[in-house]
Amino acid sequence: MPEYAFIGRSNVGKSSLINMLTNRKGLAKTSSTPGKTQLINHFLINNKWYLVDLPGYGYAKASKASKEAWEKMIRDYILKRKNLLTLFILIDIRLEPQPIDIDFIDWVGKKEIPLALVFTKSDKISKQQIVNSVERFKRELRKSWGELPLIFISSAEKKNGRDEILHFIEETNKEFVF
Ligand code: GTP
Ligand code: MG
Repeated sequence: MPEYAFIGRSNVGKSSLINMLTNRKGLAKTSSTPGKTQLINHFLINNKWYLVDLPGYGYAKASKASKEAWEKMIRDYILKRKNLLTLFILIDIRLEPQPIDIDFIDWVGKKEIPLALVFTKSDKISKQQIVNSVERFKRELRKSWGELPLIFISSAEKKNGRDEILHFIEETNKEFVF
C-alpha cells in the first residue's frame, strides 16, 4: 500500500500533524519534550494507505550512538521503501532556515526521493510573518535547487493545512499501481 512519512527535527510537530490529519488526538504520541517518537510507527488509514511517524533529528542531548542508530534506521527506510510515495519534511515556521534542515532536504533531493515541505506551528505567528518566513526559506533553497518542492503551511492547533495535505495524498494515491 502507498505510504506517506513525516520527518523533521525533534519537536517540530510530526506526531501532532498525524493526529490532526486523522482527527485522532492520541493516535501518535506527542510530547513537549523532544525525542518522543523513537521508532517507525505506521498508521493504516481507510484500509488503503499509511501515514508513517518517524523519530526526529537534531535532538541536541541525544548520544552519539543513538544519533548513529537513527541515521541508519532512517537512511534505510527512506532509500529502500518502494511504496513511500512522498516524504513530508517538516520545518518550524518560526525559525530562520536551519543548516540541519537544509542539509537534510538537499540529501533527500539528491537521492531523488519525492518530497514536500510542511511549515508547522503557523498559529504561533502572524500572517505577514508566515509569508516572510516561507519566502526566506525559499530563498535559501534556491541556492541549491532550480525547482522548489511543494509547500504546505500547517497548524495542528488550528487544523490549518489539513484539507490541502489530504487532497494531495488522495491525488498521489491515484498514481499508485495496486
Ligand atoms: P519527536 O517525536 O520528539 O521528534 O517530536 P514531534 O515532531 O513528533 O513533535 P510533537 O508532535 O510531539 O509536538 C511537539 C510539541 O509541539 C508538542 O508540545 C505539541 O503540542 C507542539 N505542537 C505541535 N504542532 C503544533 C502546532 O501546530 N501548533 C502549536 N502551537 N504547537 C504545536
Ligand atoms: Mg513524534
